[in-house]
Amino acid sequence: MLEIRGLKKTIGGAEILKGVDLTVEKGDVLAVLGPSGGGKTTLLRCLNYLERADAGTMTFLGQQMDMPTVSRKDVAAYRRHTAFVFQSFNLFANKTALQNVTEGLIVARKMPKADAESRALAALERVGLADKRDSYPSQLSGGQQQRVAIARAVAGEPDVIFFDEPTSALDPELIGGVLDVIRSLAEDGMTMIVVTHEVRFARNVSTKVLFMEEGRALAFGPAGPFFEEQKLERIQTFFRSLDRKDE
Ligand SMILES: Nc1ncnc2c1ncn2[C@@H]1O[C@H](COP(=O)(O)OP(=O)(O)OP(=O)(O)O)[C@@H](O)[C@H]1O
Ligand SMILES: [Mg+2]
Repeated sequence: MLEIRGLKKTIGGAEILKGVDLTVEKGDVLAVLGPSGGGKTTLLRCLNYLERADAGTMTFLGQQMDMPTVSRKDVAAYRRHTAFVFQSFNLFANKTALQNVTEGLIVARKMPKADAESRALAALERVGLADKRDSYPSQLSGGQQQRVAIARAVAGEPDVIFFDEPTSALDPELIGGVLDVIRSLAEDGMTMIVVTHEVRFARNVSTKVLFMEEGRALAFGPAGPFFEEQKLERIQTFFRSLDRKDE
């Protein structure tokens, strides 16, 4: 469904992505793991054209695009099929949960208000927050705000959702609820690319893993062998360093 070949990105003279390849099929959950500074966020930003790649081709739903030169119109069309969930939620502070979800449907997709509201309510229900429809972000916990952001993503009925560390801004006790929502989307067959430091979650939910270090894919492939038969010393060391942090 989504295939990337040879993605490169240089920022301020430094090559941040050095030729990344990946393939995601419908229903895949791709976990993107790796140490800080490895290029995970830059990769996601390039995948959604928040940042322009310097080289690379993307094939999405059968259509091939040259990432550096693809037109704004084609990017806009692509974005209607995708959604992005940020670490810091990015909700409108002066809008209710419901309005945060309907905004994009009404403004970007020109959906009639009543249709947008019924779709938004279904999405809020999907993340367990229908009762918070009239709450403002300041009246919600971080975990609830992130679930509103996920509802906003889901409401657009995307073919793929990108998540950049969706739980890393949350207090530990709020992380589980957000991961449960992502897990339930996975069970429903939603295609997702999730940058995360939650290795246990990745192990339980992902179908594929991309391990990024210094702008390269040190490993890319099915999750089972990645976690159960990991041969690369570097990745074993990475897991051990996380285990130590958990202690
Ligand atoms: N706008 C920018 N200007 C300069 N350097 C940048 C910029 N964005 C990213 N970088 C550099 O690119 C590298 C990769 O950053 P990126 O944020 O993609 O890493 P990451 O894998 O997401 O890390 P983390 O796990 O800490 O979020 C880092 O060395 C970072 O300093
Ligand atoms: Mg990052």
